[in-house]
Formats: sequence, C-alpha cells, structure tokens
Amino acid sequence: MRSVIDTLDLTVEEINKMMDIAIDIDTHPRKYAKSCEGKKMATLFFEPSTRTRLSHEAAMLELGGSVLGLTGAQNSSAVKGESVADTVKTVSCYADIIAIRHSLEGAALVASENASIPVINAGDGGHNHPTQTLADLLTIYREKGKLSGLTIGMCGDLKYGRTVHSLINAMTRYEGNRFVCISPDELKIPEYTEQVFKEAGIEYEITDNLEKALPGLDILYMTRIQRERFDNPQLYDKLKDSYSLTVDKMEHAKQDMIVMHPLPRVNEISVKVDDDPRACYFKQCLNGKLMRMSLIIKLLDEAKVPTKEKNSRNRKIYSGGHCHNLKCITHIEQELESQFYIDDDGDKRCRYCDTEMIREP
Ligand code: NCD
Repeated sequence: MRSVIDTLDLTVEEINKMMDIAIDIDTHPRKYAKSCEGKKMATLFFEPSTRTRLSHEAAMLELGGSVLGLTGAQNSSAVKGESVADTVKTVSCYADIIAIRHSLEGAALVASENASIPVINAGDGGHNHPTQTLADLLTIYREKGKLSGLTIGMCGDLKYGRTVHSLINAMTRYEGNRFVCISPDELKIPEYTEQVFKEAGIEYEITDNLEKALPGLDILYMTRIQRERFDNPQLYDKLKDSYSLTVDKMEHAKQDMIVMHPLPRVNEISVKVDDDPRACYFKQCLNGKLMRMSLIIKLLDEAKVPTKEKNSRNRKIYSGGHCHNLKCITHIEQELESQFYIDDDGDKRCRYCDTEMIREP
C-alpha cells in the first residue's frame, strides 16, 4: 500500500504531475467534485492543528468524499495506552485513507506499516511534514515560476521545525538551489538534514544573521520557535524572540523575494508585513488544500491496484542497533524492532527518525 511519510517517498516527476493536477483543480473544481465519492478519510490528530487538519478535511469534502476523525490524544484510546499500530489497524476497518499527526518521530512510518489503507504523514514530532512541503512547492512554483536555481533562506527554529526538514528534502532534488540556514546556534538544522545537503552536493551556508542574509534571498521561509518541543523552558524563553521580520527589514530584500511561513506565526513576522505583495503565507494555505486534493486522488487511485510497494525509497534496512533519540517512537513503543539504514558516510541512522545511532564501543 502506497503511503507518503516523507517528501522522498514521492519522485520529482510525481510531485510535478501533482502540481499540474492541483492547478487544474483550482481552475476546474467541478471536474473533481465526485473524484472520491463514497470514500472516507480518517484524520487522526494527536497534536494540535488548524490548517493541516482542516485542509485535509476540506480537500476530501471538495472531492465528494467524507471525513471522520479524532482531535487530541485525550479523546482517543491512546490515553489508555493503545499503540499507534493497533489504532491504525482499527481505523483501517472504518476508512479508506488516513492522515495522522503525532508527537513521536517515526509514528507515521509505524502507522503506514500497520494500516491496510494509505497513510499520509501530517507531521511526526519535529521530524517531517511532507504535505506542508507540497503546499510550499506549489506556492514557490506559482510565485516564482520555477523550483530550481533559487536561493532559499530558512529562518527560525531549524532544529525542531519539521516543515524545514521536509522542504529541504524536496528542494535539494531540483537543480541549482542554494540554501542559507539562519538560526541561533541552539536551533541549527539537525545533522541528518545537513547530511541531505552533503549527499546532494548542495551549496549551503549556516548563519545566525537574518539582516546580512536577506538581500541575497529569492525566498525567505520563516518559522516559529517550536515551544512544545523544548525540554528546557528557560532555553525557549531565551530564544523565543530571536527573529522578527518587519516592514523596515523588508526594504533590504529583493523586490521579487517571497516571504513564506507554514503558520501559525507568533511574533516572527510583523502583521504589517502582510500588506506587502511579497508576503505569500496565506497563499500557502490555499495551495495546501489543492495539493492535498491532488495527493488524496493519487493515493486512492493507486490503492485500487494491490501492491506490496510502500513508497519509492529504495533503502536497504537492517535490524538491530539502538536509537538514543528520546522523541523517537521506538523509545515509547518498545516492542518495535530497532532498525537502521547506512548513510553515504557509512553511519547507521535510525530508520524511524533518521537520528544517528550511537556507535557500539
Ligand atoms: C507547522 C507544523 O505543524 O509543523 N504548521 C503547519 O502544519 N502548517 C508549523 C508550526 O507549527 O510551527
């Protein structure tokens, strides 16, 4: 059963085709109004959400399908200790497709391996968020007319910002893109994302200075400091106001730079910037619904033909090792077998959360 857990589960050709369909949906919505008639989507949101849940639900409804779901772990049997695997085996009896958001890294992968219906990762902890990336890609394509040859600045919480990790996984596959990663040292991109740059031979810069980087950017992707992922509240207080994009700062940006943000924002973009035509964050919300419509059509279509293929990644997986990331699902659901893959540098990485496994002494 084909699922989408990481942007890397989709090929560039598939993403490009999905964007064409999304644009066609936008132009001819009635053509698609019955595409998912009789089908049900279950939205399993164990973490807060506004856009991601509502846009999945709006997408399914606009395709003629229906939705059922739960919001908040407190309203589900997760509070009784039910595993992700048992939850999705159950939901597979009631729905045709699942969108899941969970605080544990790797939870969506576990879901996809236990459900008998397609699973969409709507965010797994601070790890990945591929459908936000689909929204981002369509926004970039529509605003800049291309997905290659761009200088992309990513600013804010690059450590815990899952949308950043997924967008980097996607944009490194288009030619000629370069990246400027702007964050306080404590919130730098995780080393598994840095490894993506290295393996793709991509030019990237790491800095903490937004003002200096701004004039060179074609895209500025702002992010919220992810309070809920901090173990240390004092550290959050120290870093929470690290960046603030203002009208004054925008004067130093290119006339055709676009400003993106997955939202919600706290105070990292002044509301006064909203009137600047370069501000694209609310366009991302609409594009997100269109791309989710495109994705739902694709996954439900592919599900008609039984296949053993889970996704398009061809990685050799080994059993064993021990993941030391306390936010990885293998820590909480201990009956899950530890598994790893080997990256280009020969390092073992947890298959669920991509964290490097501690080397055996
Ligand atoms: C993001 C998320 O949940 O990761 N929001 C979203 O899905 N649009 C970003 C965030 O919460 O900061």
